Amino acid sequence: SAAAVSGAFAQGFPSKPITLVVPFAAGGPTDLVARHLAEAMRKPMGGASIVVENAAGAGGTIGATKVARATADGHTLLVWHIGMAATTSLYRKQQFKPLEDFEYLGIINDVPMTLLGSPKLPANTYRDFENYIRANGGKLNLAHAGLGSASHICGLMWQSAVKLDKSMTTIAYRGTGPAMNDLIGGQIDVMCDQTTNTTSQIEAGRVKAFAVTTARPLSNNKVLKDYPTLQEMGLKDFNLTIWHGLYAPKGTPPDVLKKINDALVAALKDPEFVKRQNDLGALVATDKRVTPAGHKEFVAAEIAKLKTAIEAAGQFAD
Ligand code: MLT
Repeated sequence: SAAAVSGAFAQGFPSKPITLVVPFAAGGPTDLVARHLAEAMRKPMGGASIVVENAAGAGGTIGATKVARATADGHTLLVWHIGMAATTSLYRKQQFKPLEDFEYLGIINDVPMTLLGSPKLPANTYRDFENYIRANGGKLNLAHAGLGSASHICGLMWQSAVKLDKSMTTIAYRGTGPAMNDLIGGQIDVMCDQTTNTTSQIEAGRVKAFAVTTARPLSNNKVLKDYPTLQEMGLKDFNLTIWHGLYAPKGTPPDVLKKINDALVAALKDPEFVKRQNDLGALVATDKRVTPAGHKEFVAAEIAKLKTAIEAAGQFAD
């Protein structure tokens, strides 16, 4: 029977290194989550070799398509985020259907974002920042990691929430890792990025921070407590949290999926993994979204929510 075949297959799984595909450039928040996760999953995966591969471009859809088309044997997985729910509303010719072309494992974490400015931006409080962008937005640029990336979604939602009359010039990168270098260097004026990537830069004073995108700081991150939320700054409905999830190609055998998700759930309970995530402002998932069904149900709801948000902010979506 298929179950018996799958069972036998699972016994031999993994039979080679497991690849976590990150659909953005190295050095960014998705890459960091994948590398932390690979380390935490190794032991529960029986000491298996778990490697991270960056396959960037087109807001994450190039890497996602690569995994959707990969051999469904459990050795190629995707670490992605809200892009799984957002890109469907932004790419007319998308090569995959989020709810049909993947097997869902669990959700990994929830990460706040911070609104940042380059060191030369003449503002030090959120109020100064918002007023400065209102007056000069048309002459300033904002970096993101492609349509449907977390940084892109945040940029369009923020510009829409403050009702800018002229949208900022947006510059797409292969990930917010590379973009961060240009923000520090002053070639980029503004970027909204996840605290997993921004905490160390803010602490080192290499960039200016103005506000946090979640309704409240998610964890006791020493940086987050220094900045107000956008809701506290008057954008009363603004609440953007970047979740990350783990996915396999459709058709991956059920017993293999179970073996992977058991290792994922064990990794999410690893004290070292939790501490590293919390120190960077992120919360590790503990709710029903860590189950495949809970994750998939959540993404279906997120697709609808982001479709509405993207349509409402349409003129800023590039
Ligand atoms: C990254 O890993 O570079 C980010 O997730 C890109 C983004 O989604 O903004």
